[in-house]
Amino acid sequence: MTAREVREEYHMLRVELVVNGQDVRRDVPDNMLLSTFLREEVQLTGTHIGCDTTQCGACVVSIDGETVKSCTMLALQANRRSVTTIEGIANGSELHPMQRAFSECHGLQCGYCTPGMVIAAIDIVERSEEPLTAARVREELKGNLCRCTGYVNIVKSVLRGAELMGRPVDRV
Ligand code: FES
Ligand code: FES
Repeated sequence: MTAREVREEYHMLRVELVVNGQDVRRDVPDNMLLSTFLREEVQLTGTHIGCDTTQCGACVVSIDGETVKSCTMLALQANRRSVTTIEGIANGSELHPMQRAFSECHGLQCGYCTPGMVIAAIDIVERSEEPLTAARVREELKGNLCRCTGYVNIVKSVLRGAELMGRPVDRV
């Protein structure tokens, strides 16, 4: 059996999960990636696909409070779990503080990497027990690639986002 034939063998299975606070139920192939599920089954296209090989971080979402590259996970593995995508972090028309920070600090150019950057940045800030530094932000964002900005304004944005989220920042 060829690799292609193996990939084309699948079973339809029911997936039930919560996405941005809404119950979602779909019958999907058991080999469907979570990133595909979010984009094509739930029409949440803010989760971007930049590589499909676990390198770029454009597809990062939060699952039960932990960030995950959604191209590395099957939709089935998110069964009965709670997923937050970039579409789910604003409070109605009020942007999340990290979104405001990226806007204020010009932390994006084309914006392709931005959904994953923002979700990862919120997680960095929420996990940080010490005042957040630029060095820590750079270290933590190693899994998120940006082809446009050179990262300077992204790091500024994350530090500003931390401040707007009421967390201490060390800019020395
Ligand atoms: Fe998932 Fe690049 S699309 S890491
Ligand atoms: Fe274009 Fe990051 S803003 S890839």
